[in-house]
Amino acid sequence: MYVLTRGRMLVLLVLIGSSWALGLFSFSYYWNKASQIAVSSTYRADYSTQIIEIRPGVIKLPSPITTGIMSVEEAMFRRRSRREYLDKPLESIHLSQLLWASQGITEPKWGLRTAPSAGGTYPLEIYVIIGERCVKDLTAGVYRYNPKDHTIILVISGDCRPGLSTAALSQPSIANAPVNIVVAAVYERTTQTYGSRGIRYVDMEAGHVGQNVYLMATALGLGTVVVGAFHDEQVQQVLRLPKDQVPLYLIPVGYPKE
Ligand SMILES: Cc1cc2nc3c(=O)[nH]c(=O)nc-3n(C[C@H](O)[C@H](O)[C@H](O)COP(=O)(O)O)c2cc1C
Repeated sequence: MYVLTRGRMLVLLVLIGSSWALGLFSFSYYWNKASQIAVSSTYRADYSTQIIEIRPGVIKLPSPITTGIMSVEEAMFRRRSRREYLDKPLESIHLSQLLWASQGITEPKWGLRTAPSAGGTYPLEIYVIIGERCVKDLTAGVYRYNPKDHTIILVISGDCRPGLSTAALSQPSIANAPVNIVVAAVYERTTQTYGSRGIRYVDMEAGHVGQNVYLMATALGLGTVVVGAFHDEQVQQVLRLPKDQVPLYLIPVGYPKE
């Protein structure tokens, strides 16, 4: 007959305890590995999933996610211009992904980006126009995107969508979308290298950005349309753009109405 002495009991307890410890260790090891894979290698050092105001009016966006569920083929197949949106706020990660798709930095050494640029001259500036309660944790305003540290900087407080829509022949897609991305260009950054040919390079680059935003929006289950019909000076006034910045595209984005 097997007798459970005090000594044997102790051995049994030690065995049970160490197998628990081993289990916990392997779980945390694989969990760590899995989250490292999910996070972009470029932004691993400061990976964050939340919006953080790092200085007054300077907002650090959630780190971009570089592995998605939808293939690029499927996003191309599903891409369609959508002009009607639900009255539903976007998540901050949506904003982060859309801005990253437009001009995010993917190669930190030279500052290369998600969209190509003639000679790496990077003539485009990206703004985002947000309505009240339209992006979680963000107030209404005009923000400028800074690709270098993946932040947005508040330029104007308040909802500028009605003025922007008026400048765009009163297109309702702009007034109704929770956010509008605006692509503006500083032509001189490219023409000083390429002369007058640089003008077409800048316009081509805006097209790359537009398609990137279309595909990212599609992959996120959002709807968008690129808008080229607007009065340049009126858009410049509404957004208080610096004189050397010419607006090229207005891109409303939201959850599409069925
Ligand atoms: C340069 C350019 C300018 C455009 N401007 C507008 C616009 O001002 N308003 C609008 O609703 N759609 C605009 N569009 C979207 C087109 O109307 C749309 O791409 C076209 O109807 C084809 O539909 P799809 O994008 O679903 O394939 C523009 C597209 C391009 C490429």
